[in-house]
Amino acid sequence: MATTQTYVGTAQRRVDGPLKVTGAAKYAGEYKAPDLLHGRVVSSAIAHGTIERIDTSKALAVPGVVRIFTHENRRRTAWFDSKYQDQVAPPGSPFRPLYDKTIHYSGQPIALVVADSFETARHAASLIEIEYRLESHQTDLAVEEQRAYVPPKKRSGIDPPPDDRGDFAKAFAAAKYQVQADYYHGAQHHNPMEPHASTVVWNDGKLTVYDKIQGVQNGQQYITSVFGLSADDVQVVSPFVGGAFGSGLRPQYQLFLAVMAALELKRSVRVTLSRDQMFTFTHRPETRQTMSLGADENGKLVALRHAAVAGTSTFEDYQEVVVNWSGLAYHCDNVSFEYKLAKLHTYTPGDMRAPGAPTGMFALESAIDELAEKAGVDPLEFRIRNYAEKDLNEDKPFSSKELMACYRQGAERFGWSKRQPAPRSMREGRELIGYGMATGIWEAQMQEATARATVQADGKVEVATATSDIGTGTYTILAQLAADGVGVPIEDVTVKIADSSLPKSPLEGGSWTAASVGSAVVLACQTLRQQLFEHARGMENSPLANEALERIEFRNGRLAVQNDPSRSLSIGEVLRAAGVGQLVAEEKSTPDPKVQKSHARYTHIAVFAEVRVDEELGLVRATRLVGAVAAGRILNLNTARSQIIGGLVFGQAMALEEHSEMDHHFGRFMNHNIAEYHIPVNADIHEIDVIFVEEHDVMASPIGVKGVGEIGIVGTAAAIANAVHHATGKRVRDLPITMDKVMPELDGPVAPMNASMTSAQI
Ligand code: MOS
Repeated sequence: MATTQTYVGTAQRRVDGPLKVTGAAKYAGEYKAPDLLHGRVVSSAIAHGTIERIDTSKALAVPGVVRIFTHENRRRTAWFDSKYQDQVAPPGSPFRPLYDKTIHYSGQPIALVVADSFETARHAASLIEIEYRLESHQTDLAVEEQRAYVPPKKRSGIDPPPDDRGDFAKAFAAAKYQVQADYYHGAQHHNPMEPHASTVVWNDGKLTVYDKIQGVQNGQQYITSVFGLSADDVQVVSPFVGGAFGSGLRPQYQLFLAVMAALELKRSVRVTLSRDQMFTFTHRPETRQTMSLGADENGKLVALRHAAVAGTSTFEDYQEVVVNWSGLAYHCDNVSFEYKLAKLHTYTPGDMRAPGAPTGMFALESAIDELAEKAGVDPLEFRIRNYAEKDLNEDKPFSSKELMACYRQGAERFGWSKRQPAPRSMREGRELIGYGMATGIWEAQMQEATARATVQADGKVEVATATSDIGTGTYTILAQLAADGVGVPIEDVTVKIADSSLPKSPLEGGSWTAASVGSAVVLACQTLRQQLFEHARGMENSPLANEALERIEFRNGRLAVQNDPSRSLSIGEVLRAAGVGQLVAEEKSTPDPKVQKSHARYTHIAVFAEVRVDEELGLVRATRLVGAVAAGRILNLNTARSQIIGGLVFGQAMALEEHSEMDHHFGRFMNHNIAEYHIPVNADIHEIDVIFVEEHDVMASPIGVKGVGEIGIVGTAAAIANAVHHATGKRVRDLPITMDKVMPELDGPVAPMNASMTSAQI
């Protein structure tokens, strides 16, 4: 079918932009309801133990307080009998708020104060007296990793490490050049602008739930399973999400608490979490990795071992793909993997943008840089020399892989050829300059999704599906696909999403939304075209009589015979003649199981970084980043570019700033605010350049899309760490690269203060 692409592939502005910048877009904690009550969560002050006494009498005496829920009086829900797990739950038993007196981690919700205002609830919460019985806790991976274990049960959707191949030990021992080193990063917390919140509107036993969540149907399923309600009684709506980065994949405890309170009080209830409470559920897990790499005299990778141990909670075995990347990034015949977990008294870690990949690729791409240096080969040349033409983990060809073009175009744009090979050889004034680069890989996934398309006699089109838009641009790309799909101006398209009553869609995550939901929208629009055409052809004296659908152009709300625009009809004429007010088509798109079996499907990025390091202060600035991306078809150059920029910034944050500081004495994340948990501000971000290389992929998804939501973060931390090494000669293997880690090398051996420093220096 001839489909004119007027909108797809162009740089469209966000269709939801005006709503957002004018404040008209409403978020979960902003919905109003008559007699709305407000909840404040009380968080545990200890990491492990039991609540021996909880005295709510003073709090209950505060005027305006309606009810205080604790484990002693919480509702007996269906939860406690069921084996419920949400769509992305790892093996184990999901956390059950207010279940009993046991404390599993610091920050665990232990009471919900419900009052007629948030301020009252917050004040009352401060009056609750709690006595704990402490039990010993363990929050230190360095200690607990002695007891690390291979997860006995695989997490659904997450591939365990592939089988070893060749003989790593022998090849490594014989390798001319060897690198063996440990890499580390601590926990990192999602810090979207919008903190988690749920507003539950109670309407005679039926609930409308406005929740900050990445999948409304996942939220609905959670509520119905946990509280024993029917799907007809629960609608979850989340039209706007102020960032999530994975923190909204699983239903979070404020949703449970708000629904519980609403059901119990038969009133509408809102529960919002404070910024510090954003550190009391889910995080990117602390991970230690050991890389062992060997190369021969020609700079060919001959041996590789990637071992990782990551923290999880005491109640779930959270898993992500960390080590597998090393087996498919380069050609290597002798490879060995290990991936283990260690149980800590924290909440269960969760998916945080490209879960596992920036972790694993930081270690691999740092180690590759070290190995290239030992072998005396330019780091980019080293990667090209060891390019993987197929996925050796699974012995499959790639559905497409234009990484080589990413390397070449990225290097060209960045000016890689100006790099002086030796560390500390480039400087300007008191700043050392470093050039580093790295590769990133992420999965090009597709899920089953359903979409409904409707066209009215006035030519207006609506597409509807339950997916979310977590800020990535889903509204816009679906509008583009529908506008081209039916052949109408984009202004005539309405996108209806993020409502659990809409056609079934996966949660928004894994960078799969454009490929999955986009394909469903295209299918539904194709069906609409067919319907329109059949009605048009059947009209009395139809100008399209005796034509085939293939010869009809759908454009500007009209159906016209190709190369003969005089023979045309408007959508309105067709519908009026047919005597129907509207046409509706609902279609499901499903990934092709044959392709899923036969081909490896990945997106790639080459990241180039320039850093400038102040020699006196040890301060690192990432002054230039170039990301060259191969991600199949790019639907919208604006929103895709924004996703990559966001990813590169996220990667820079991982390299230089983000780190949740654990106080092991208390077993608590201490810097639980965005003054002390550092993320880049505008002043930290300099030049960022994004390139999309041409990549045609007919297998990753029917519409050629591979997804761009996550690839930008992968590899960026390594590119910056490699640039820091090039600038300073200092190899920092634990993130973030802060001044204290950069300084000693610059100063030479650290001397006692009184011996070598004058007061002027201090
Ligand atoms: Mo993303 S971590 O799959 O929301």
